[in-house]
Amino acid sequence: MNGMNHSMNMDGMNQSSMNMSGMDHSSMNMGHQSMTALKSSLGKNELTFPHLLKPDQKNNNSISYTIRAQQGTSEIFNGIKTKTYGYNGNFLGPVIRVEKGMNVTIHLVNDLKEDTTFHWHGLEIPGNEDGGPHKVLKPGETETIHFTVKQDAATLWFHPHPMHETGKQVFMGLAGLLYIDDKESEKLNIPKSYGQDDFPIILQDKTFTKDKQLDYDKVLNEDGTTGDTLLINGVVDPKLTVERQKVRLRILNGSNMRTYKLHFDNDMEFQQIASDGGFLNEPTKTKEIEVAPAERAEVIVDLAKVTGKEVSLVNEENKTILPIHLKGTSEKSNKMITPLNHLRISDEVKNKKVTKTIKLAGMGKNVTINNKKFDPNRIDFTQKQNETEVWEIENVNDAMGGMNHPFHIHGTQFQVISIDGKEPPANLSGLKDTISLKPGQKAKIAVKFTQKGIYMFHCHILEHEDNGMMGQIKVE
Ligand code: C2O
Ligand code: CU
Ligand code: CU
Repeated sequence: MNGMNHSMNMDGMNQSSMNMSGMDHSSMNMGHQSMTALKSSLGKNELTFPHLLKPDQKNNNSISYTIRAQQGTSEIFNGIKTKTYGYNGNFLGPVIRVEKGMNVTIHLVNDLKEDTTFHWHGLEIPGNEDGGPHKVLKPGETETIHFTVKQDAATLWFHPHPMHETGKQVFMGLAGLLYIDDKESEKLNIPKSYGQDDFPIILQDKTFTKDKQLDYDKVLNEDGTTGDTLLINGVVDPKLTVERQKVRLRILNGSNMRTYKLHFDNDMEFQQIASDGGFLNEPTKTKEIEVAPAERAEVIVDLAKVTGKEVSLVNEENKTILPIHLKGTSEKSNKMITPLNHLRISDEVKNKKVTKTIKLAGMGKNVTINNKKFDPNRIDFTQKQNETEVWEIENVNDAMGGMNHPFHIHGTQFQVISIDGKEPPANLSGLKDTISLKPGQKAKIAVKFTQKGIYMFHCHILEHEDNGMMGQIKVE
């Protein structure tokens, strides 16, 4: 394959005909590395939702929480104890909810038997509080961070980031959600009752050993660990039983490397309303969405339109991801989804010269950014606080054929100016913190940091990050 085809993929992303080929182009680009095939959900277990974390304290403009990384066992399979990691529980984490403008305090506790960090993915937070690989907490250590929420409503997440161990710790279960609400999001007439019509959907594929353990060392793949078993919110073989109504799915791809292309088995249309950093300018109709590792997509699905008792969310190979069982009779929902945001990239920014170039290259242990591996003692770039710069990100199409790299920057929400010289599709026109590029693809993005400090940028295939596909920028 050469680079020529990839821009076509990007343009054709919303066409449901893409599903029909049954082939995922990213897997074709993986050369000798093949992805583990995913099994269909058997729909045996009702989906559960992470609990909303109770604040330690809350008043009008401040809130505080305690987050504890811990390990233990969970009953993922009936009657079997699986060793897992989690936040404030033994598997996965709770949802932390904060409002724009609030002063937030979070007490971090490492109750693991190993080093970890607490990284806030997508949050515009001072570099010192961002929980990158420099901010290690040893077993038993605690730390308190403070920040003010300055960005708009969005679905963000948190996960560990210790050098060389991120892949393993996320695989073992360390991941949680961070919701930001604001005045706009509270006003919008969209589904927003947590667990009623507004559902987190955390997608993670895992492989279990014969005795149903998560043995990361056994399944480790230097190009990204994939699994044959999909868990949603930590539930294996999930199903969702819900009223016939409009629902909002806040999808987070929390997988180590797998990208999901999702559609419904009846091929119905739905609307994407938000991406990584918040609401899109307007709801975008589509029949299929793609979520790369670390990306979020919020969609509104009108289940009142479904005839029959069941509809399923399926992937590009028509494997069942989530069967949805419908209760009750069809009622017209009065929820109207109106324009949501007003993000524009000014011509001034669009016409700015590229000031930072990022070349993503390699596979396996040979992954690099600009021909370099991560060095904790090297600052790769500097940028001024609140100044917008244009970065060019290129996935170098090298001799080996290459593979997709989801590129992520800490501490900022950026905007995509172009992909291969063309305007991005509507669902990539909102605020993003991660952009997935196919081999040969090049994107220009407008990047502004509202806070100061040192931030990581890296490939969000966690094993690539662990193998040093990461750099640092100092914002001053
Ligand atoms: Cu999701 Cu460096 O992070
Ligand atoms: Cu991040
Ligand atoms: Cu990568």
